[in-house]
Amino acid sequence: MTKTENTVIIKGLTKNFDVRFKEAGLAGSIKSLIKPKNIVKRALKGISFTVSRGELIGFIGPNGAGKTTTLKILSGLLYPTNGFVQVLGFNPWEKKPEFLKNISLVMGQKNQLWWDLPAIESLKLNRAIYEISQKDFTERLNKLTDLLDVGNLLSTQVRKLSLGQRMRLEFVTALIHEPEILFLDEPTIGLDVIAQQKVRDFIYEYNLKNRATILLTSHNMNDLLDLTKRVIVIDSGEILYDGYLSELVRSFAKEKIIKVYLAKESDIKKFETIGKIIKLDLPYVSLSVPRESAAVAASEILQSFAVADLTIEEEPIEGVIRRVFKGEMVKQS
Ligand SMILES: Nc1ncnc2c1ncn2[C@@H]1O[C@H](COP(=O)(O)OP(=O)(O)O)[C@@H](O)[C@H]1O
Ligand SMILES: [Mg+2]
Repeated sequence: MTKTENTVIIKGLTKNFDVRFKEAGLAGSIKSLIKPKNIVKRALKGISFTVSRGELIGFIGPNGAGKTTTLKILSGLLYPTNGFVQVLGFNPWEKKPEFLKNISLVMGQKNQLWWDLPAIESLKLNRAIYEISQKDFTERLNKLTDLLDVGNLLSTQVRKLSLGQRMRLEFVTALIHEPEILFLDEPTIGLDVIAQQKVRDFIYEYNLKNRATILLTSHNMNDLLDLTKRVIVIDSGEILYDGYLSELVRSFAKEKIIKVYLAKESDIKKFETIGKIIKLDLPYVSLSVPRESAAVAASEILQSFAVADLTIEEEPIEGVIRRVFKGEMVKQS
Protein backbone atom coordinates (compact mmCIF):
# COMPACT_ATOMS: atom_id res chain seq x y z
CA MET A 1 0.00 0.00 0.00
CA THR A 2 2.56 2.52 1.10
CA LYS A 3 5.96 3.08 -0.34
CA THR A 4 7.59 3.22 3.03
CA GLU A 5 7.34 1.15 6.19
CA ASN A 6 8.32 4.20 8.22
CA THR A 7 4.98 5.93 8.00
CA VAL A 8 6.08 8.89 10.07
CA ILE A 9 9.57 10.36 10.00
CA ILE A 10 10.48 13.45 11.99
CA LYS A 11 14.02 14.78 12.18
CA GLY A 12 15.09 17.86 14.09
CA LEU A 13 11.61 19.34 13.98
CA THR A 14 11.26 22.79 15.48
CA LYS A 15 8.24 25.02 15.76
CA ASN A 16 8.32 28.59 16.99
CA PHE A 17 5.27 30.70 17.64
CA ASP A 18 5.54 34.48 17.63
CA VAL A 19 3.64 35.70 20.63
CA ARG A 20 2.94 39.35 21.32
CA PHE A 21 4.14 40.08 24.79
CA LYS A 22 2.21 42.43 27.03
CA GLU A 23 3.17 43.56 30.50
CA ALA A 24 0.48 43.46 33.16
CA GLY A 25 -1.84 46.38 33.79
CA LEU A 26 -2.95 49.42 31.85
CA ALA A 27 0.57 50.80 31.53
CA GLY A 28 1.58 47.49 29.99
CA SER A 29 -1.31 47.64 27.52
CA ILE A 30 -0.38 51.14 26.44
CA LYS A 31 3.27 50.24 26.16
CA SER A 32 2.51 47.23 23.99
CA LEU A 33 0.33 49.38 21.73
CA ILE A 34 3.07 51.93 21.20
CA LYS A 35 5.94 49.53 20.96
CA PRO A 36 4.75 45.99 20.47
CA LYS A 37 7.17 43.45 21.81
CA ASN A 38 7.21 40.01 20.28
CA ILE A 39 8.64 37.03 21.98
CA VAL A 40 9.26 33.70 20.40
CA LYS A 41 7.66 30.69 22.00
CA ARG A 42 9.74 27.64 21.17
CA ALA A 43 7.06 24.96 21.20
CA LEU A 44 9.23 22.25 19.60
CA LYS A 45 12.98 22.37 20.04
CA GLY A 46 14.22 19.87 17.49
CA ILE A 47 12.42 16.60 18.04
CA SER A 48 13.08 13.38 16.14
CA PHE A 49 11.30 10.06 15.98
CA THR A 50 9.98 7.55 13.50
CA VAL A 51 6.85 5.44 13.55
CA SER A 52 6.44 2.21 11.64
CA ARG A 53 3.32 1.05 9.91
CA GLY A 54 0.84 -0.54 12.29
CA GLU A 55 2.31 0.88 15.50
CA LEU A 56 0.06 2.31 18.20
CA ILE A 57 2.12 4.82 20.13
CA GLY A 58 1.35 6.84 23.23
CA PHE A 59 2.56 10.41 22.86
CA ILE A 60 2.56 11.78 26.36
CA GLY A 61 3.71 14.71 28.44
CA PRO A 62 2.45 17.56 30.60
CA ASN A 63 0.22 20.36 29.31
CA GLY A 64 2.05 22.69 26.98
CA ALA A 65 4.68 20.06 26.11
CA GLY A 66 4.10 20.31 22.35
CA LYS A 67 1.91 17.28 21.66
CA THR A 68 -0.93 19.01 19.82
CA THR A 69 1.55 21.15 17.90
CA THR A 70 3.30 17.99 16.71
CA LEU A 71 0.05 16.29 15.69
CA LYS A 72 -1.06 19.42 13.83
CA ILE A 73 2.22 19.54 11.92
CA LEU A 74 1.90 15.86 11.07
CA SER A 75 -1.63 16.43 9.76
CA GLY A 76 -0.63 19.44 7.70
CA LEU A 77 -2.49 22.03 9.78
CA LEU A 78 0.67 23.86 10.85
CA TYR A 79 3.93 24.57 9.07
CA PRO A 80 7.09 23.51 10.85
CA THR A 81 9.69 26.20 11.50
CA ASN A 82 12.54 23.85 10.70
CA GLY A 83 13.38 20.20 10.30
CA PHE A 84 12.30 17.24 8.26
CA VAL A 85 8.79 15.80 8.35
CA GLN A 86 7.44 13.02 6.20
CA VAL A 87 4.15 11.17 6.55
CA LEU A 88 3.44 8.26 4.20
CA GLY A 89 6.11 9.71 1.98
CA PHE A 90 4.44 13.12 1.77
CA ASN A 91 5.18 16.56 3.11
CA PRO A 92 2.04 17.07 5.20
CA TRP A 93 1.73 20.81 4.54
CA GLU A 94 1.46 20.26 0.79
CA LYS A 95 -1.88 18.66 1.58
CA LYS A 96 -1.88 16.39 -1.45
CA PRO A 97 -5.19 14.56 -1.89
CA GLU A 98 -3.47 11.16 -1.60
CA PHE A 99 -2.08 12.30 1.74
CA LEU A 100 -5.36 13.69 3.06
CA LYS A 101 -7.19 10.52 2.05
CA ASN A 102 -4.93 8.49 4.26
CA ILE A 103 -4.79 10.44 7.49
CA SER A 104 -7.21 11.64 10.11
CA LEU A 105 -6.80 13.90 13.12
CA VAL A 106 -9.36 13.42 15.87
CA MET A 107 -9.34 15.97 18.66
CA GLY A 108 -11.29 15.23 21.81
CA GLN A 109 -12.20 18.87 22.28
CA LYS A 110 -13.02 19.77 18.72
CA ASN A 111 -15.67 18.41 16.46
CA GLN A 112 -16.26 18.22 12.78
CA LEU A 113 -19.88 17.11 13.04
CA TRP A 114 -22.50 19.67 12.15
CA TRP A 115 -24.24 20.61 15.39
CA ASP A 116 -27.72 21.21 13.96
CA LEU A 117 -27.81 18.26 11.61
CA PRO A 118 -27.88 14.55 12.16
CA ALA A 119 -24.48 12.88 11.86
CA ILE A 120 -25.47 11.10 8.66
CA GLU A 121 -25.40 14.46 6.85
CA SER A 122 -21.80 15.13 7.89
CA LEU A 123 -20.97 11.60 6.84
CA LYS A 124 -22.47 12.11 3.40
CA LEU A 125 -20.43 15.26 3.06
CA ASN A 126 -17.27 13.34 3.86
CA ARG A 127 -18.27 10.68 1.39
CA ALA A 128 -18.29 13.36 -1.30
CA ILE A 129 -15.05 15.00 -0.12
CA TYR A 130 -13.15 11.75 -0.02
CA GLU A 131 -14.82 10.38 -3.16
CA ILE A 132 -15.95 7.18 -1.52
CA SER A 133 -18.11 4.88 -3.63
CA GLN A 134 -21.65 4.21 -2.41
CA LYS A 135 -20.79 0.57 -1.90
CA ASP A 136 -17.68 1.27 0.19
CA PHE A 137 -19.53 3.94 2.11
CA THR A 138 -22.36 1.62 3.11
CA GLU A 139 -19.99 -1.16 4.03
CA ARG A 140 -17.72 1.02 6.12
CA LEU A 141 -20.60 2.82 7.77
CA ASN A 142 -22.10 -0.48 8.85
CA LYS A 143 -18.79 -1.69 10.15
CA LEU A 144 -17.96 1.50 12.04
CA THR A 145 -21.40 2.04 13.53
CA ASP A 146 -21.39 -1.58 14.60
CA LEU A 147 -18.02 -1.34 16.28
CA LEU A 148 -18.94 1.89 18.01
CA ASP A 149 -22.53 0.93 18.68
CA VAL A 150 -24.06 4.09 17.22
CA GLY A 151 -26.15 2.77 14.32
CA ASN A 152 -29.37 4.06 15.88
CA LEU A 153 -27.97 7.57 16.43
CA LEU A 154 -27.16 8.52 12.85
CA SER A 155 -30.41 10.38 12.27
CA THR A 156 -30.51 12.26 15.57
CA GLN A 157 -29.60 15.92 15.56
CA VAL A 158 -26.05 16.05 16.92
CA ARG A 159 -26.80 18.67 19.59
CA LYS A 160 -29.24 16.26 21.22
CA LEU A 161 -26.62 13.59 21.81
CA SER A 162 -24.49 13.03 24.88
CA LEU A 163 -20.78 13.81 24.72
CA GLY A 164 -19.95 10.11 24.60
CA GLN A 165 -22.38 9.45 21.75
CA ARG A 166 -21.09 12.45 19.88
CA MET A 167 -17.46 11.44 20.31
CA ARG A 168 -18.19 7.98 18.93
CA LEU A 169 -19.92 9.55 15.94
CA GLU A 170 -16.90 11.82 15.52
CA PHE A 171 -14.84 8.69 15.14
CA VAL A 172 -17.19 7.27 12.51
CA THR A 173 -16.98 10.54 10.59
CA ALA A 174 -13.21 10.84 10.93
CA LEU A 175 -12.67 7.28 9.77
CA ILE A 176 -15.21 6.83 7.00
CA HIS A 177 -12.37 7.27 4.50
CA GLU A 178 -10.43 4.49 6.28
CA PRO A 179 -7.22 6.40 6.84
CA GLU A 180 -4.01 4.49 7.30
CA ILE A 181 -2.81 6.89 9.96
CA LEU A 182 -4.73 8.25 12.91
CA PHE A 183 -3.63 11.13 15.04
CA LEU A 184 -5.73 11.05 18.18
CA ASP A 185 -5.51 14.04 20.50
CA GLU A 186 -7.10 13.27 23.87
CA PRO A 187 -9.89 11.18 22.33
CA THR A 188 -11.36 10.09 25.67
CA ILE A 189 -11.31 13.46 27.41
CA GLY A 190 -14.55 14.27 29.20
CA LEU A 191 -16.14 10.90 28.47
CA ASP A 192 -17.74 8.74 31.14
CA VAL A 193 -15.98 5.46 31.87
CA ILE A 194 -18.27 3.36 29.69
CA ALA A 195 -17.86 5.64 26.69
CA GLN A 196 -14.11 5.72 27.34
CA GLN A 197 -13.99 1.95 27.21
CA LYS A 198 -15.98 1.85 23.96
CA VAL A 199 -13.63 4.33 22.34
CA ARG A 200 -10.64 2.40 23.65
CA ASP A 201 -11.92 -0.92 22.34
CA PHE A 202 -12.54 0.73 19.02
CA ILE A 203 -9.02 2.18 18.75
CA TYR A 204 -7.64 -1.25 19.57
CA GLU A 205 -9.74 -2.95 16.87
CA TYR A 206 -9.03 -0.33 14.25
CA ASN A 207 -5.30 -0.63 14.81
CA LEU A 208 -5.43 -4.39 14.60
CA LYS A 209 -7.84 -4.88 11.72
CA ASN A 210 -6.57 -2.15 9.43
CA ARG A 211 -2.94 -2.37 10.48
CA ALA A 212 -3.40 1.34 11.01
CA THR A 213 -0.67 3.51 12.46
CA ILE A 214 -1.90 5.44 15.48
CA LEU A 215 -0.36 8.25 17.49
CA LEU A 216 -2.35 8.74 20.65
CA THR A 217 -2.13 11.64 23.03
CA SER A 218 -3.86 11.07 26.32
CA HIS A 219 -3.86 11.91 30.00
CA ASN A 220 -5.94 8.85 30.66
CA MET A 221 -3.95 6.17 32.42
CA ASN A 222 -6.14 3.35 31.09
CA ASP A 223 -5.77 4.50 27.49
CA LEU A 224 -2.03 4.11 27.84
CA LEU A 225 -1.95 0.91 29.85
CA ASP A 226 -4.53 -0.82 27.64
CA LEU A 227 -3.45 0.36 24.24
CA THR A 228 0.19 1.29 23.96
CA LYS A 229 3.42 -0.64 24.09
CA ARG A 230 5.70 2.14 23.01
CA VAL A 231 5.50 5.65 24.40
CA ILE A 232 7.20 8.87 23.46
CA VAL A 233 7.52 11.34 26.32
CA ILE A 234 7.75 15.00 25.41
CA ASP A 235 8.25 17.94 27.74
CA SER A 236 8.93 21.60 26.92
CA GLY A 237 9.33 20.74 23.25
CA GLU A 238 11.93 18.04 23.82
CA ILE A 239 11.71 14.26 23.67
CA LEU A 240 12.63 12.83 27.06
CA TYR A 241 11.96 9.19 26.38
CA ASP A 242 11.12 6.93 23.45
CA GLY A 243 10.70 3.26 24.22
CA TYR A 244 8.60 0.57 25.81
CA LEU A 245 6.05 1.70 28.35
CA SER A 246 7.23 -1.15 30.54
CA GLU A 247 10.78 0.23 30.48
CA LEU A 248 9.70 3.74 31.38
CA VAL A 249 9.94 2.90 35.05
CA ARG A 250 13.52 1.76 34.77
CA SER A 251 14.55 4.95 32.98
CA PHE A 252 12.70 7.40 35.12
CA ALA A 253 11.91 5.98 38.53
CA LYS A 254 14.19 7.55 41.07
CA GLU A 255 12.89 5.50 43.94
CA LYS A 256 12.31 1.91 44.88
CA ILE A 257 9.68 0.57 47.22
CA ILE A 258 10.67 -1.66 50.12
CA LYS A 259 7.87 -3.77 51.58
CA VAL A 260 8.39 -5.29 54.97
CA TYR A 261 6.41 -7.66 57.19
CA LEU A 262 7.70 -7.45 60.74
CA ALA A 263 7.98 -10.64 62.75
CA LYS A 264 7.25 -8.93 66.03
CA GLU A 265 6.28 -5.59 67.42
CA SER A 266 9.10 -3.10 67.22
CA ASP A 267 9.79 0.58 67.52
CA ILE A 268 8.88 1.72 64.05
CA LYS A 269 10.34 5.21 64.57
CA LYS A 270 13.57 4.00 62.99
CA PHE A 271 11.81 3.49 59.63
CA GLU A 272 11.44 7.22 59.30
CA THR A 273 15.20 7.61 59.27
CA ILE A 274 15.58 5.00 56.53
CA GLY A 275 13.03 6.15 53.97
CA LYS A 276 9.69 7.77 53.33
CA ILE A 277 6.89 5.68 54.82
CA ILE A 278 4.15 5.07 52.28
CA LYS A 279 1.94 2.73 54.22
CA LEU A 280 1.93 1.63 57.82
CA ASP A 281 -0.43 -1.18 58.65
CA LEU A 282 1.46 -3.26 61.21
CA PRO A 283 2.97 -5.69 60.89
CA TYR A 284 3.22 -4.36 57.31
CA VAL A 285 5.30 -1.33 56.42
CA SER A 286 6.16 0.01 52.98
CA LEU A 287 8.57 2.81 52.32
CA SER A 288 10.18 4.46 49.34
CA VAL A 289 13.92 4.97 49.19
CA PRO A 290 16.25 6.43 46.57
CA ARG A 291 17.06 3.81 43.94
CA GLU A 292 20.77 3.80 44.49
CA SER A 293 20.49 3.26 48.24
CA ALA A 294 17.81 0.57 48.15
CA ALA A 295 20.23 -2.24 49.01
CA VAL A 296 21.76 -0.33 51.90
CA ALA A 297 18.33 0.60 53.24
CA ALA A 298 17.18 -3.01 53.04
CA SER A 299 20.16 -4.29 54.98
CA GLU A 300 19.66 -1.57 57.58
CA ILE A 301 16.08 -2.74 58.02
CA LEU A 302 17.17 -6.35 58.35
CA GLN A 303 19.69 -5.37 61.03
CA SER A 304 17.32 -3.14 62.99
CA PHE A 305 14.15 -5.21 62.95
CA ALA A 306 12.95 -8.75 63.26
CA VAL A 307 11.73 -9.17 59.70
CA ALA A 308 9.37 -11.91 58.49
CA ASP A 309 9.49 -10.87 54.85
CA LEU A 310 11.10 -8.14 52.80
CA THR A 311 10.84 -7.28 49.11
CA ILE A 312 12.30 -4.48 47.00
CA GLU A 313 10.07 -3.38 44.14
CA GLU A 314 9.96 -0.86 41.36
CA GLU A 315 7.72 2.14 41.68
CA PRO A 316 4.38 1.28 40.00
CA ILE A 317 4.14 2.36 36.37
CA GLU A 318 1.07 4.45 37.17
CA GLY A 319 3.13 6.58 39.53
CA VAL A 320 5.74 7.20 36.87
CA ILE A 321 3.14 8.12 34.24
CA ARG A 322 1.51 10.47 36.69
CA ARG A 323 4.83 12.22 37.12
CA VAL A 324 5.16 12.43 33.33
CA PHE A 325 1.81 14.24 33.23
CA LYS A 326 2.93 16.62 35.95
CA GLY A 327 6.16 17.41 34.12
CA GLU A 328 8.33 15.98 36.86
CA MET A 329 10.61 14.05 34.54
CA VAL A 330 14.16 15.14 33.90
CA LYS A 331 15.94 14.63 30.62
CA GLN A 332 18.20 11.62 30.61
CA SER A 333 21.84 12.41 30.03
N1 LIG B 1 -0.99 29.26 18.15
C1 LIG B 1 -0.12 29.39 19.16
N2 LIG B 1 0.44 30.58 19.43
C2 LIG B 1 1.34 30.71 20.42
N3 LIG B 1 1.74 29.72 21.22
C3 LIG B 1 1.21 28.50 21.01
C4 LIG B 1 0.25 28.26 19.98
N4 LIG B 1 -0.10 26.97 20.00
C5 LIG B 1 0.60 26.40 21.01
N5 LIG B 1 1.38 27.32 21.62
C6 LIG B 1 2.32 27.09 22.72
O1 LIG B 1 3.17 26.02 22.38
C7 LIG B 1 3.39 25.16 23.46
C8 LIG B 1 2.94 23.74 23.10
O2 LIG B 1 1.53 23.71 22.99
P1 LIG B 1 0.71 22.39 22.66
O3 LIG B 1 1.34 21.73 21.49
O4 LIG B 1 -0.72 22.75 22.54
O5 LIG B 1 0.97 21.53 23.97
P2 LIG B 1 0.24 20.19 24.46
O6 LIG B 1 -0.70 19.73 23.40
O7 LIG B 1 1.35 19.25 24.74
O8 LIG B 1 -0.49 20.57 25.73
C9 LIG B 1 2.64 25.75 24.64
O9 LIG B 1 3.50 26.53 25.39
C10 LIG B 1 1.60 26.61 23.97
O10 LIG B 1 1.23 27.68 24.81
MG1 LIG C 1 -2.73 19.40 23.51
